[in-house]
Amino acid sequence: MVRVKTLLDTVGQTPLIRLQNLVEDQDSELLLKMERTNPGGSIKDRPALYIIEEAERRGWLKPGGTIIESSSGNFGITLAMIGAAKGYRVIVLVDPKTTPVNLAMMKAFGADVRVVTEKDDSGSYHKTRIALANRLHREIPGSFRPDQCFNPLNSEAHYRQTAQELMEQCQGKLDAVILTVSTGGQLGGFSRYFKEHAPHIRVIAVDAVGSTIFGGKAHSYLLPGMGLSWTPPNIDDLSRIDEIYKVPDEDAFLMCRLLARYEGVLGGGSTGAGLVVAWKLVQEWGSGKRIACLAPDNGERYLPTIYNDVWMKERGLNVEIEPMGLRRRVRELVPHSRYPVETANYQPELVEILDCPTRFHEVRR
Ligand SMILES: Cc1ncc(COP(=O)(O)O)c(C=O)c1O
Repeated sequence: MVRVKTLLDTVGQTPLIRLQNLVEDQDSELLLKMERTNPGGSIKDRPALYIIEEAERRGWLKPGGTIIESSSGNFGITLAMIGAAKGYRVIVLVDPKTTPVNLAMMKAFGADVRVVTEKDDSGSYHKTRIALANRLHREIPGSFRPDQCFNPLNSEAHYRQTAQELMEQCQGKLDAVILTVSTGGQLGGFSRYFKEHAPHIRVIAVDAVGSTIFGGKAHSYLLPGMGLSWTPPNIDDLSRIDEIYKVPDEDAFLMCRLLARYEGVLGGGSTGAGLVVAWKLVQEWGSGKRIACLAPDNGERYLPTIYNDVWMKERGLNVEIEPMGLRRRVRELVPHSRYPVETANYQPELVEILDCPTRFHEVRR
């Protein structure tokens, strides 16, 4: 009898596609790894499922248990989906910036969604959301905190699965991999895997202008799913990263629009941000190069925002650009750093201040 997969068996093994129209030099290849084909619609299915299954295996999460997480987007959606499939209660702490689409998705999966309205000292909601999630975890018996920002199992999922999968799909023939950053799960896992297995492949990090993961000046930004106000411990060795770029909101969103119009790929904001840097490098490095970019999620989630002219104009953003215009602009982009170790903004005291569950410091194998 043919064994039919369950929903969660379909996480991973995402396609790698080559762009056909935006790359002028046909000897160079720009590849996108399409994480939208995961059942929860984003790359976050991978670390979420990995962490939940490790927690079950280690006895941290038992039948009837409650999963509590701070997330304004994809990780919360994924946990809500996994909770529905496995029968756990899920509480997600979101903030006023969480989009109606994301809220609706979490609720559709049956999650208990709570909005945290108090800002932290950096003007964002990350720290207040995390502190409240940790408090609820202490109060609710049988609860488990995946803790994507501080739990090293997040990057381990990408080290053991996603990075290896990309390497196999490329058969090792790759010049650079481009990763956008928030919790550092992707960047931490990929940089470790590639520097151990193929150190010639350049690992390029892409953050939002206004985020201070790699230092710099903090201010608000619109890029969804990217940025943080400290270097997350999932990026445990900055020397494994070759270069860091910071991309402005408008460039990333215009890239999304060109990608949809000229390639038929509807990507999220971080896909656009990563591709801005990939597009720059493919022009700068000359013929015959192969650059892979992770495309973390699905543009349908952003139809009311990035793909909506009214939303863009209200925020003072341009809505139209020709490929030549954006190509010229991305060429001007300069790296935020070529010496990532000098950009460290680790804040180990946050573990105490936010009262993070301590056992995660013992999980690295
Ligand atoms: C759409 C999107 N892109 C990029 C990222 C960054 O990935 P990571 O948290 O692994 O650094 C996230 C994380 O939330 C995301 O949701």
